Amino acid sequence: MCGIVGYIGFRDAYPVLIKGLHRLEYRGYDSAGCALVSRTSELNVYKAKGKVSDLERATQGKDITGSLGIAHTRWATHGAPSEVNAHPHISKSGNITLVHNGIIENYATLRVQLEKRGFVFKSQTDTEVLVQLIEFQKELRHCDLAEAVRRSLHLVIGAYAIAVIDKENPTQLVAARKASPLAIGIGEDYKEFFLASDASPIAEYTNQIVYLNDDEVAVVERGKNLHVMNLYGEDKEAEVKEVDVDLSMLDKGGFPHFMLKEIFDQPNVLRDCMRGRIINNVYSSESGQAHEPTLDVVLSAVKDHRRELLRARRIVIVSCGTSWHAGLIGKQLIEHFCQIPTEVAYASEFRYADPVVEQDDVVIAISQSGETADTLAAIQLAKEKGAFVYGIVNAVGSSIARNTDTGTYIHVGPEIGVASTKAFTGQVTVLTLFALALGMYKGTVDQQEYQDVLEELTNIPNKIQEVLKQNDKIQELSKKYTNSSNFLYLGRGFNYPVALEGALKLKEISYIHAEGYPAAEMKHGPIALIDKDMPVVFLTNHHRRYQKVISNLQEVISRHGQILAIIHEGDDQVKQMVETYIEVPQTLSCLAPLISVIPLQLLSYHIAVARGLNVDQPRNLAKSVTVE
Ligand code: G6P
Repeated sequence: MCGIVGYIGFRDAYPVLIKGLHRLEYRGYDSAGCALVSRTSELNVYKAKGKVSDLERATQGKDITGSLGIAHTRWATHGAPSEVNAHPHISKSGNITLVHNGIIENYATLRVQLEKRGFVFKSQTDTEVLVQLIEFQKELRHCDLAEAVRRSLHLVIGAYAIAVIDKENPTQLVAARKASPLAIGIGEDYKEFFLASDASPIAEYTNQIVYLNDDEVAVVERGKNLHVMNLYGEDKEAEVKEVDVDLSMLDKGGFPHFMLKEIFDQPNVLRDCMRGRIINNVYSSESGQAHEPTLDVVLSAVKDHRRELLRARRIVIVSCGTSWHAGLIGKQLIEHFCQIPTEVAYASEFRYADPVVEQDDVVIAISQSGETADTLAAIQLAKEKGAFVYGIVNAVGSSIARNTDTGTYIHVGPEIGVASTKAFTGQVTVLTLFALALGMYKGTVDQQEYQDVLEELTNIPNKIQEVLKQNDKIQELSKKYTNSSNFLYLGRGFNYPVALEGALKLKEISYIHAEGYPAAEMKHGPIALIDKDMPVVFLTNHHRRYQKVISNLQEVISRHGQILAIIHEGDDQVKQMVETYIEVPQTLSCLAPLISVIPLQLLSYHIAVARGLNVDQPRNLAKSVTVE
C-alpha cells in the first residue's frame, strides 16, 4: 500500500507534497515523511510517526525550501510504524533518497550481501535495501542515478513504485514501477512534473498524465521532456492520457467524514453510473416506426465483445473485500439473467489455487481501486490460461482497468473513506446492467422482466434518498449498540451478501466482531450464540421466499435475540414481531441489495462515531491494497 508523491519544477515542492500526501492518506497512515533538496542544495529529510498532520508539525520551523522533493505516507509491511522505518530512506553517503510503495521480497538476501560490503542499515524495512543497492550500483558502475536504478531493479524481486532523488544531481527525479501504481503529471510546457500513486494529488495542476507500465523507468528532468525506458535502457513511448478528476469529490463537502459524504453521494453517483447506459427506445429498429417507449441497456464493452462473452460456458468472478461481496450478488444476477454457471473466488485464493480455467471461460475482475495486488495477479493468471477478462473498476486508468481485455467503469467518483460504500452500490449496478445486457444477447431474459428491472433501476437513486432521510433515526438507534461486542447479520438470497457486507462495515470501522450468515444456515451453528445480549441485524426485505425468511426470524425471536430488522415499507407482519426495525422502500428482489445496504452503512458509521473512532482511517486498514 503506501502513497508516494514527488515534485520537480519551479514552485516550492513542500506544499505540493503535503497536499498530495493528504490526498493519498487513504493508502496508509501510520507514518509519513518527505525529502527536499533545499535552495542551498542541502538534502533535508523529515519524518514522523503517525499521520501527515504529524509530519507537518515535525517540519515546523525547519527548512522546507526547494523545488525538488519526494514524500511518502506509509502502511507498514516490514518493520513497525516508527520514525526510523518511515520513508524516505537515505543511502549510506546521504546523497540518495527514495520512497517506495510495494514489497521487495528478496530484501533479506540483498541486505546480507550489502552488509558484507560495509553498508549499515538503520531500519527494519525492505525499502532501505533498495536505496543502498542503488548507491552501490552507482559507485560500482560510475553511472548516473537512472542507470543505477535500472541496474538495481534487475536484482530485485517484488513489487515497487519508487521515486528517487540524488542530491548530487538536483535537476533530476527518477521513478520506476512494477506491480504498484505510479502516475506522472506533466505541467505546462514541461516546466514541472508531479508524481503520485494515483491522479488525485496531480489533478489540480494538470490533466496530462502518464501511467508508467510494469518494468519501466522514468527520468524526469527539470524543464526537459519525460524520458521513459525499460529495464534494459531501451526507450519506451510515454502515452499521455487526459485524466479529469472532479476535485469537489476530493473533499468532504461539509460532511464530518468522507464515509458519510460517500454514503450520501450514492443517489447522485448511481445516476452517473447509469447515465447513457439505460436508454429510452422509441423507434423500432426493424420498421423505424415510433412505438411505446421501451428501455434498453447500452454497455459498449458487452456489445463489442458479445462473441467472447456468449462463448462462456462458465464465468469466474475474482475480487477482494467489499468487491467480493458485490461479486456474490453478480453471481446471482448472471445465473438468473444469463443462465451461465458463475463462481466467485477471492482473488488471493484463486491466484495460488491452481484453478481450472479454460479458454472459453470469462473472468470478471471487480475492484474499486483497480490496484489490488491479488486481483491483478488473478487477472494475469486467468489471461495466461487463455480466459477473456472483463473488468468492473472505479479508478479510471488504473492497473486493473489497463490489464483487462475490456470492461465497464462504475463511475462513482473517487472513494476516499477506507470503508467502501458507494463503490459497492456502483459495482452492483454495473453487474445488474451487465447481466441484463448479456442475457438479452443470449436470449435468456424474459422481455417483461428486463423492462421491469430497468425501470426499477432508474428509481433506485430516489429510493436510496428516501432511506438517507432516516439518517437521524438510525443515529439515534445506533446508540443502543455502542458497547456491544458481537453482532450477527442474517439475510437470504440477494440479501445474504448484504449481510456479509454489513458485518464487514461494522468490523472495519467500529472494531466490533460481526458475522454475516445466510439466515437459514444459522441453525447449523451460530444460533448457539444467540441470547438477549446478541444484536442480530435481520434483512427480511424483498425476498422471493418471504415466509421462509420470517420462519428464520421467528427462530431468533424464540431465543430472545436483540433484533434489528430491515423491513420493506408496509411489512406489518414483521412490525408486529419485532420492536426495532428500519423501513426501506419496496423494490424488486434482485435490486434489494442496493437499498438494504444503505441502513447498514449508516448503522456502522454511527456506531463507530459514537465509539470515538477514526471512521475514515480505521486502524490497520488501507484503501488500496497493493501488496499481497
Ligand atoms: C481493501 C479496502 C476494501 C476493499 C478491498 C478491495 O481491503 O479496505 O474496502 O473492498 O481492499 O479493494 P478493491 O479496490 O480491489 O475493490
